[in-house]
Amino acid sequence: MARSTSSRVPRIVEANFVGSSPKPEHLPDPVGVEIAFCGRSNVGKSSLLNALMLRRNLARTSNTPGCTRQIAFFQARASDGTVVRLVDLPGYGYARRSKSERISWGNLVEEYLLARPTLAAVVALVDVRRGVEADDEDLLNLVTAPARVPRPPLGVLLVATKLDKLPRSAHTPALQRIRRQSQRPTLGFSVKDPDTHDRLWQELRRTIGFTTTAG
Ligand code: GTP
Ligand code: MG
Repeated sequence: MARSTSSRVPRIVEANFVGSSPKPEHLPDPVGVEIAFCGRSNVGKSSLLNALMLRRNLARTSNTPGCTRQIAFFQARASDGTVVRLVDLPGYGYARRSKSERISWGNLVEEYLLARPTLAAVVALVDVRRGVEADDEDLLNLVTAPARVPRPPLGVLLVATKLDKLPRSAHTPALQRIRRQSQRPTLGFSVKDPDTHDRLWQELRRTIGFTTTAG
């Protein structure tokens, strides 16, 4: 497939798994710049991370909702030498979780989002067919709550996943609906469309203050 925007985004030349933890006290040391990806179970977080890192299965994906229960950290280095950490948060909204699991999910995600000094941006994923639901609003409210550590304000971006599940003519109306709901910048994404991967990298780099043009 033609990659019309690829020349404007430095390519990922190396990606690796840094570590993961189900507990806030055992996270990898906060170093560098982190971008966190969150959303409902099965929305496509791990698939999107693999697409961004050009790796087939570095972040584990599954047909079974609730697959990722830990916070997982990856590091990606681009051809211009910039390094960023991509963070896969466990999904929410999975009905078959016990109450205690939901509480530990809440503690883990809240502690990470509000107290991580290296967190620079949050990407909230919603299924393009479902739009922004009550659980997503809760997450967005959490992201905009005051941080418990000194750090610059978080960049927040919406990504509508699984764009390929809609006919092309429905893409723009669906994205406009999500923009209206969220009042935030919103990009469409499909694992099957590399142009959407490049556009997301471009927006992420802009959000965290990296230059967007290849050197
Ligand atoms: P949890 O870890 O359970 O929170 O899920 P997740 O958000 O990480 O979702 P995951 O990436 O595991 O994807 C869930 C399912 O959706 C898998 O079967 C993926 O193949 C599928 N999927 C993800 N992204 C896309 C996409 O862009 N298009 C299509 N058609 N399927 C996708
Ligand atoms: Mg996952």
